[in-house]
Amino acid sequence: MADEVKKEAPANFKVTIDNITIEVTPGTTILNAARQIGGDVTPPAMCYYSKLQGSGGKCRTCLVEVAAGSAADPRPMPKLVASCRTNVMDGMVVKNITSEKVTDARNGVVEFLLINHPLDCPICDQAGECDLQDLSYEHGKEGTRYEFKRRTFEKEDIGPYIQLHMTRCILCYRCTYVADQLTDQRVHGILDRGDHAEISTYISKAIDNDFSGNMIDVCPVGALTDKTFRFKNRVWFTRPVDAHRDCPTCCGKVTLWQRGDEVLRVTARKDEWGEVQSYDGKPGWICNACRFDKKKTSDWVIEGPTAINRHSVISQGHYEGLQKPKETIAEIMGGRDPKLLMDIHSISDVNKVALSELPGPATSKTFENGK
Ligand code: SF4
Ligand code: FES
Repeated sequence: MADEVKKEAPANFKVTIDNITIEVTPGTTILNAARQIGGDVTPPAMCYYSKLQGSGGKCRTCLVEVAAGSAADPRPMPKLVASCRTNVMDGMVVKNITSEKVTDARNGVVEFLLINHPLDCPICDQAGECDLQDLSYEHGKEGTRYEFKRRTFEKEDIGPYIQLHMTRCILCYRCTYVADQLTDQRVHGILDRGDHAEISTYISKAIDNDFSGNMIDVCPVGALTDKTFRFKNRVWFTRPVDAHRDCPTCCGKVTLWQRGDEVLRVTARKDEWGEVQSYDGKPGWICNACRFDKKKTSDWVIEGPTAINRHSVISQGHYEGLQKPKETIAEIMGGRDPKLLMDIHSISDVNKVALSELPGPATSKTFENGK
């Protein structure tokens, strides 16, 4: 045997992203290395989801420039690469926000994603927590160069709890990975290819598996929405609080989205990347019973207000403690109640309706009957 001395691979790889150098374990993707640095250097990700195996590589929003491939071969990579699918090498130099090419490509990807996506944020339940909305604010153009008719689809009820707006889907595949990896049988998927591709259930089978509600949480846009919350409220008017219950099926750790004392929606708790939080190394997916059936505050042990990024529009309705905001008008007016031209409460049924108990979206009929 030749006297070949095998060079030991370094325990950690040094990678520089936007001029910040860190050490990561071999096998780490550029995106996850950037997440370890955090902040603006982290590329956006519309299809990658760290808790779903095989996700990523579909949307191209995470493209970065590799200015030097490795210490051993410092040539730049000829094309931009998907950071969620490219592993770091020792001595790699990556540019994200410091690269004009990346900004330009990302603008193009957003324009492409918006070709068919309707601009219906004002009536979409995902508004305020939609990754595509955020991305469009940062990288979108106000106009479109697209001259053809957009793809449109009928809304589809897929199961008792989820409504599909295929028109809004960006084909990220996350929901199919949830079905594959969390439920015992996948009954939906992406049918057809190219610009005919669409999410649908196989032969109109309903999705009613115990963990199917997690598809709503992973959908980066408003394509899969919670039928028990649809049109009940805007997310920035609700107040998120962390709560838990002793659940035999899931971790039971959730965020309750309250309006007053009413629980309008229950979701899994999210981390800073918009993914479900992990507990003891396991993702905190929640079951459908916690998500859809436990809509009373008394079903839960309240832990306290959810930490919300102060830049998020949701932080607007987020106040510490569980009391309602202090009324100050009487105080300012020396104890006198304001003289109302019209007391909205006496003529409107809005406050008499328990929105979370409605079986479907609230309509004008709901308020006519006061039920
Ligand atoms: S429905 Fe949502 S989660 Fe599923 S592929 Fe479309 S955008 Fe992704
Ligand atoms: S997040 Fe990398 S391609 Fe979608």
